[in-house]
Order: sequence, then C-alpha cells, then structure tokens
Amino acid sequence: MWLNFGSFMMIWVLLILLLLSDKNNNVEGLGVNWGTQANHKLPPNTVVQMLKDNGIQKVKLFDADESTLSAFSGTNIEVMVAIPNGDLVAMLDYKRARKWVEKNVTRYHFKGGVNIKYVAVGNEPFLKSYNGTFENATFPALKNIQNALNEAGVGDTVKATVPLNADVYESPQGNPLPSAGRFRGDVADLMTQMVQFMSQNNAPFSVNIYPFLSLYGNPGFPVDYAFFDGGAVPIADNGIQYTNVFDANFDTLVSALKAAGFGDMPIIVGEVGWPTDGDINANVNNAIRFYRGLLPRLAANTGTPLRPGNIDMYLFGLLDEDAKSVAPGSFERHWGIFRYDGQPKFPMDLSGQNRDVYLVGAKNVKYLEKQWCEYNPNAKDTSKLMDNINFACTFADCTPLGYGSSCQNMDTNGNNSYAFNVYFQTQNQNLEACNFQGLARLTMQNISTPTCNFLVQIASSGLRVRTAVPVAFSLITASLYLFFYI
Ligand SMILES: *[C@@H]1O[C@H](CO)[C@@H](O)[C@H](O)[C@H]1NC(C)=O
Ligand SMILES: *[C@@H]1O[C@H](CO)[C@@H](O)[C@H](O)[C@H]1NC(C)=O
Ligand SMILES: *[C@@H]1O[C@H](CO)[C@@H](O)[C@H](O)[C@H]1NC(C)=O
Ligand SMILES: *[C@@H]1O[C@H](CO)[C@@H](O)[C@H](O)[C@H]1NC(C)=O
Ligand SMILES: *[C@@H]1O[C@H](CO)[C@@H](O)[C@H](O)[C@H]1NC(C)=O
Repeated sequence: MWLNFGSFMMIWVLLILLLLSDKNNNVEGLGVNWGTQANHKLPPNTVVQMLKDNGIQKVKLFDADESTLSAFSGTNIEVMVAIPNGDLVAMLDYKRARKWVEKNVTRYHFKGGVNIKYVAVGNEPFLKSYNGTFENATFPALKNIQNALNEAGVGDTVKATVPLNADVYESPQGNPLPSAGRFRGDVADLMTQMVQFMSQNNAPFSVNIYPFLSLYGNPGFPVDYAFFDGGAVPIADNGIQYTNVFDANFDTLVSALKAAGFGDMPIIVGEVGWPTDGDINANVNNAIRFYRGLLPRLAANTGTPLRPGNIDMYLFGLLDEDAKSVAPGSFERHWGIFRYDGQPKFPMDLSGQNRDVYLVGAKNVKYLEKQWCEYNPNAKDTSKLMDNINFACTFADCTPLGYGSSCQNMDTNGNNSYAFNVYFQTQNQNLEACNFQGLARLTMQNISTPTCNFLVQIASSGLRVRTAVPVAFSLITASLYLFFYI
C-alpha cells in the first residue's frame, strides 16, 4: 500500500519528534540545586537556558529571588523556592507568612508564569551543629506557610516541606542497621508532629543524603561503600544486603518514618552529589564514579531495598559557589556539576545510560580579559608576603591550594601567584588589586598548570567588560575609575 503525502509527512514529523525527545530523555524526577553564593554570578537567563539545553526539568533554589524566578517564566520547569533559616522567625507571624506566599508564590501562579511546586521552609534547620537555634521556629513557620498556600488556593499544587539533613535520624549505637532507624532523640517528638502535618497536606519528606560526607567524616569508612558499584562488603539487615551507604541511609529514614507511623510518606532527596575539589576524596574521578552509579539507578527506577521505584532527587549542585562558608570543609565550594562559568567539568549522561557525553555548557558567557596576576619573583622586599597572601585568601577562594586539592603540587611561587590571581579576578581585574605592595605583576600568559586552573573570571551581570586599560590616565580619571570599580 502506498502512503499518501499526508501520512508520509506525518511519519517524518513523528520521527523528528522522537529524535528530539530522545535528546532530552533524562532520568525522570531528576532535578538540580541552584545555589548562588558566588562572587561572580552567571545571569539567571543564561543559567535557565543551560537547564533547558540539558533537559533538566526541576530546580531547587535557596531563596525566592525575583530576578531568578523571572527567568523561569513560561519554561514550565518545576521550581522549589525557599525561605532561608534566618527568615524562619519572621514567618511565625501568620500575616507575614501570607505576604511571603503572596509575593513569592502566588504572584507567579498564572499561565505562562512560574511552575512553583514546593516551598522549602528553612534549610537543614535541625542540623546538630546549629545547637537547636532553629528548633522552635521551623514547625510553626512550616504550618503558617502551608496554611497560607492553602488559603491562597494554591495548596493543592504547591507544598511546603523542610529539607532536612540526614542527621535527624539514626540507628542506635548497639544496632546500627537501617531497619533500626529512628528520629534523633532531641527532635523526635517535633519530627513526628511535623511529619504528621506534612502528611495531612500531602507534602513530601525532603532529605539531603551525602555519601561523600560519610567518607569525609569517618577515617575508617570503607571507600567502596560510598559508591554504587557493589565493591563494598555487604551489610546484612533482615535478609537485605546493603552494598552502599546511600541505600542504607535512605532506608534508615524509611524505618524512622515507619516507626513514627508514616511508613508510606513520599520522600524526595533534596540534595545528593559529589564535590570535585578541596579534599583528597573530592575530585573529578570520584564524582564520575558516583554519578555513573547514581544516574542509571535513577533511570531504572531502582529505588532502595525498602522503597523500590522512582525517587525524585535534586543533584547538588549546579554550579560551583566560591563564596560559600568553608566551615564544613574546603570542598564546600566545589559541588558543581558545572564550573563557576557554567562549563561542564566531566562527562555525565543525565539519561542514565553512561554514554561518554558532556552536558551542554552555558552559552555566550562573557569573560573578563585574558590576563592574570602573578607573583613577581624579582620583588625585593618579601617581608610582607604572608600578610598579602592571607589578605588575598581572606577575600577570594584559595581552597584549590589545600591538601589533596587541584593546586597542591605547585612551588611557593605558584602558590603565591594562585592567591594573587584569584583575588585579582574576584576584584574584576581592577589593576589596583594586582599590586600587593609591589609583590605582584600583571601577565598576559596563561599561567595555569595541567591540574591547576588559574581562572579568568566571568563578567558579573551588570558589570561592563573593560576592553582596555589606559596606560597613562589623569588623576581624575584614576579616581573616577576607582570610584566605579572598587
Ligand atoms: C520573597 O523572597 C525574597 C527572596 O528570598 C525575600 O527577600 C522577600 O522578603 C520575600 N518577600 C516577602 C514579602 O516576604
Ligand atoms: C554550637 O555549639 C558548639 C559547642 O558549644 C559551638 O562551638 C558552636 O559555635 C555552636 N554553633 C552555633 C551555630 O551556635
Ligand atoms: C525553644 O523553646 C523552649 C521552650 O519554650 C526554650 O526552652 C528554648 O530556649 C527555646 N530555644 C531557642 C533556641 O530559642
Ligand atoms: C603551597 O600552599 C599550600 C597551601 O597553603 C601548602 O600546603 C604548600 O605547602 C605550599 N607549597 C609550597 C611549596 O610552599
Ligand atoms: C588556561 O590554560 C588552561 C590549561 O591549559 C586552560 O584549561 C584554560 O582554559 C586556559 N584559560 C584561558 C582563559 O584561556
């Protein structure tokens, strides 16, 4: 039978659609965390385009910044907005909570607006190291926000949840098995009440699980147990063989929920990932190994022994953030699957097939000039060198210089140059920032080494890219120049 022209065209259209959909055939339920604690930020539109180019459908934010949210307009990407811990107390006032919802959720709730799906109330507010600071505010804030969402008529589609650290549950010392999981003693009652409230509102439990931190925090931790390739000695629990800490951790939560009477509560993993610098175990090879285990499991809806099936997960994180606190460790600034400039760091296949492909990088990124600041080995007076290095590393990110990190193998001059350059770049290549009491000089040579990237910063949104710096300029120009660029 002959096809007429119409059906012939139809088949072509179907084929093309098939090809297009295959390109973005990403793991269902896969999201990313987009944190913005960076000295130089990519423009929100650039980042959102990058998400689209990679077929990423879900994003978790750490605030509800207007310019960020505007960039999501009309994209249909699912967004989780957030109330930072510091703002929780304010939400104890119901009127305030209602205003928050009005301004940061319902305002975007229209056709062609932003597809807001969750409000994260706080960020790991019960973390042990916070010593209970947010313990009293979190649950009332959660209630006020969900009630305000319900009152505004969006509660059916927008759910409030509290992204918690995995340290809110544990197994007892004597019986460290997933099946023995319970909520941590000091927050157990609170957790039970919160879970009950979220359950009534059909909101999911949200937890951050970090196999990297298990390894980082415990010198005796079996390395293979942090990954998914089955190399670890299994831990047996009621006939289940656990071969990775992610499953064991997740199922500890499932058991804790069950013990609290909410064994079927949906769980989303708010953060999971592996850093690439700042620690001996934080490197590209380990990150590749981790994601090559994680992504196919997501694609196959493997789930965990106690919760087989699809698990929604948000990778942590999208971009490196060079202004994050390093209190938890130097790795904290290197969680990105993309570098600071939106370029992919390593091969990664979001469809879970482990093909040797790279993510699509940010497009049309504007960089500062190709120039670097380096230590001047001819400097005569080096007595102030340490002071200057300390200064540079206080205001810029020197974590790649640390033990086990990408720049640890340089000589002293290389160390000095790294610190001077990263400060100079952080200061938008302001020439004043490459002096260091005569210890530094400008260079047009890329002084990177094979493992250590001496970066050239991106031009911040809103900052004009300077094309040339006048060699001689009048005092007035100079002072104006300083006025505008410092
Ligand atoms: C909306 O969110 C932004 C960013 O997180 C916050 O600064 C602002 O206070 C919120 N608006 C209201 C009315 O609470
Ligand atoms: C929590 O307590 C410890 C030990 O007393 C202290 O070192 C730390 O600074 C406290 N943290 C906060 C956030 O209060
Ligand atoms: C939380 O409330 C309890 C009981 O009212 C009080 O004892 C405790 O000091 C409060 N904690 C904080 C951090 O405010
Ligand atoms: C370079 O700096 C790092 C980090 O500050 C330090 O551990 C290392 O010893 C330094 N190397 C030299 C040769 O000074
Ligand atoms: C500098 O060299 C490094 C290593 O060869 C390279 O990765 C980087 O892209 C270069 N930087 C610039 C701005 O060209």
